[in-house]
Amino acid sequence: MKRFLPYLRYLRGRRLYLVCALLCGAVSGLVYGRGLPYIMETVFKRIFTEGARNLPYLHVLGVAMLIPLIFLIRAISGFLNNYLMNHCGIGVLEALRVELYRKLQYLPLSFLGKNRTGDLLSRLTSDTQIVQQTITNCASDLVIQPLTLIGATSYLYVKAAENHGVIGFLSSLAAVPFCVFPVRFIGKKLKRRAYENQRLLGDISDIANQNLMAAKEVRAFSLEPSEVNLFQTTIRLLFRVQLKVIKYSLALSPLIEVIASVGIAFSIVYAYYSGISMAVFTSILAAIFACYDPVKKLSALQGQFAKGSASLARIEEILHAPLTIQDPEKPVQVDRLGGKISFENVGFAYKSDDPVLRSINITIPQGTTCALVGHSGAGKSTFAHLVSRFYDPTSGRISIDNLDIRDLKLADLRRNIALVSQDPVLFNDTIYKNILLSRPEATKAEVEQAARDAFAHDFILTQTNGYDTIVGERGASLSGGQRQRIALARAFLRNAPVLILDEATSALDGESEAAIQLALKKLVVGKTVLIIAHRFSTIRDASLILVFDRGEIIDSGTHGALYDRNPLYKALYDRQGPAVT
Ligand SMILES: Nc1ncnc2c1ncn2[C@@H]1O[C@H](COP(=O)(O)OP(=O)(O)OP(=O)(O)O)[C@@H](O)[C@H]1O
Ligand SMILES: [Mg+2]
Repeated sequence: MKRFLPYLRYLRGRRLYLVCALLCGAVSGLVYGRGLPYIMETVFKRIFTEGARNLPYLHVLGVAMLIPLIFLIRAISGFLNNYLMNHCGIGVLEALRVELYRKLQYLPLSFLGKNRTGDLLSRLTSDTQIVQQTITNCASDLVIQPLTLIGATSYLYVKAAENHGVIGFLSSLAAVPFCVFPVRFIGKKLKRRAYENQRLLGDISDIANQNLMAAKEVRAFSLEPSEVNLFQTTIRLLFRVQLKVIKYSLALSPLIEVIASVGIAFSIVYAYYSGISMAVFTSILAAIFACYDPVKKLSALQGQFAKGSASLARIEEILHAPLTIQDPEKPVQVDRLGGKISFENVGFAYKSDDPVLRSINITIPQGTTCALVGHSGAGKSTFAHLVSRFYDPTSGRISIDNLDIRDLKLADLRRNIALVSQDPVLFNDTIYKNILLSRPEATKAEVEQAARDAFAHDFILTQTNGYDTIVGERGASLSGGQRQRIALARAFLRNAPVLILDEATSALDGESEAAIQLALKKLVVGKTVLIIAHRFSTIRDASLILVFDRGEIIDSGTHGALYDRNPLYKALYDRQGPAVT
C-alpha cells in the first residue's frame, strides 16, 4: 500500500477530482452501511406493525420507495466515485508512462544492452496498466468499504445498546478476524505468481518483437516453424501461471463468503431464541450483510495490491535505474569546440571482467583525419563511441580541447559531434525531416545543399514525393546505400567540428564511393575526423592512422611509416588490398 503512495504525486492538477471522488465514496459507503439498515427498520416498522393492515396504498408505496431511494443515492455516488477515480487513475497511468519513456531516453546504452526491447515495451504498456488499475480500484474501495463497515457496525452498536439480545448478533462478527488468514496467505502467493506472469508477458513481447524485426532472416533460414514453437512454448508457460493467478484471485472471495455465512447462520439461531422483532431482525441482517461486503472487497483488494506491486517492482527497475551518463552538476559552458581529442590512460569494459580497451593514450590534434584500423572486434567502434559518451570509460579520462568530456553538458558535447554509424537508422518520416533532425533550425536550402554534398539529392528527387517521401520503418523503403547517403547528408548538415564515420562508405557502389570520397574531402576540411573504413583508399590519405589490436593501440603514424614498420598493419593491408578489417 505504502509503495503506491509516492505515485499519487502524478495526480497533480487532478486533486479536485480526487477529493470529489472520495466524497462520493464516503456518501456511497455510509448510505449503504448505515442508511440501508436504518431504512429497512423504518419501513418494516411502519408497514408490518400490528394494526397497520389498513394503510392507504400511497402511504405504503411512499414508505417502500425509501429503499430504492437509498439504492439510487448509492448508485449515483458509487458511479461518480468510480468514474472520477478512473479519471485520476488514467491520469496517473499517463504520467507514469511518460515518466518511464523519458527515463528510457536518458538511460545509458549499457542499460538498454542488458534489457530486452520487448520486455521493456511490456513494462511500458502492460505493467503500467496494472498499476493504474490497482491505484483506481484501491483508492476507490479504500474509502467506500471501510465507511460501509463503520456505518454498519455503528448501526449494530446502537441496536446492541437498545436491545441486549443484539449482542448475540454482534458475536457473529467474530468471524471477521478469521477472514484475515486466507487473505494474507493467498495475497503472498498471488504476488509471486503475478510477478512471474508479468515477466512472461515481457518475454512474449520480446520474442514477437525480435521476430518481427528479423522478418527477412526468418524466411531466408526457414525459421517459421521453430519461431512458432518458441512462441507457443512461452505462451503455454504463461497459460499455467495465468491460471494460478486467476485461481488465487477467484478463491479469495468465495472463501470469505463461506466464513461470513457461518457467522450469519449463528446470528439467526441466536435471534430465534432471543425473540427480537421482525423489523429489527431484518435491519440487523442488512447491517451484517453490509459488514461482510467490505471485508470481502477489502480482501479482494489484497489480490489487486499483490498484482500491482509485482508490476510496480518491474516498473521501478527502470525508474530507479541509475543514470550513469548524465550532465555534470556544474557544466563547463562551451559553444563550438575546436576538436583536439585526447585519451589518457583510458580503459573500458562492457562487462566488468572483460576489458575491451586497455590503457589507451593518444592525442588526435584538431583538424586531423584519423583512421582506425585493426581486426574485427579490436575495439575501433568502442573507441569512437567513448568520444560521444555513449559509455564512460572504466578508467582514465577523455578530453576535447583539454576539457574532460564529463564536464560538458551531454547536449553540448553531442552537438559538436556528427556520427554516421555502421548501420544508420532512419525514422519513419519524410526524407526531409530525417535529414533536418541533425540541425532542426536549418533552412530548406541548407537541407538540400547537405543532400547534394552527400550525393543524395538526385536519388531523392526520383522518389515518388521527393523530399516528402516517407521512408518506412527504419528506412525500409530505401536501399542500404541510399540510407547511408541520407546519414551522410545529416552529417553535412550538422557541420560539427568532430566527425565520426563508422564504415560509413561500406554500402556504396563504386560510383557513389568515388563521389563520396570527393564529398568527404570537402567535409573533413578543418574538422577532426575519426574514420573506421573498410577501404584503404580512405585510410591511406589519413594524416594519422591508429592500429588497434585486442583493445590496445599498438602503433600510430602515417600509411608509409606504418607499412614499413608494423607487421600487423602490413598484414591487414596486404591481405585485403584496398580494404581493411
Ligand atoms: N554492446 C556491447 N556489449 C558487450 N560487448 C560488446 C558490445 N559492443 C561490442 N562489444 C565487444 O567489444 C569488443 C570490441 O567491439 P567493437 O565493436 O569496438 O569492435 P570493432 O573493432 O569496431 O569491430 P568491427 O571491425 O567488427 O566493427 C568485441 O569483442 C565485442 O564483442
Ligand atoms: Mg565496428
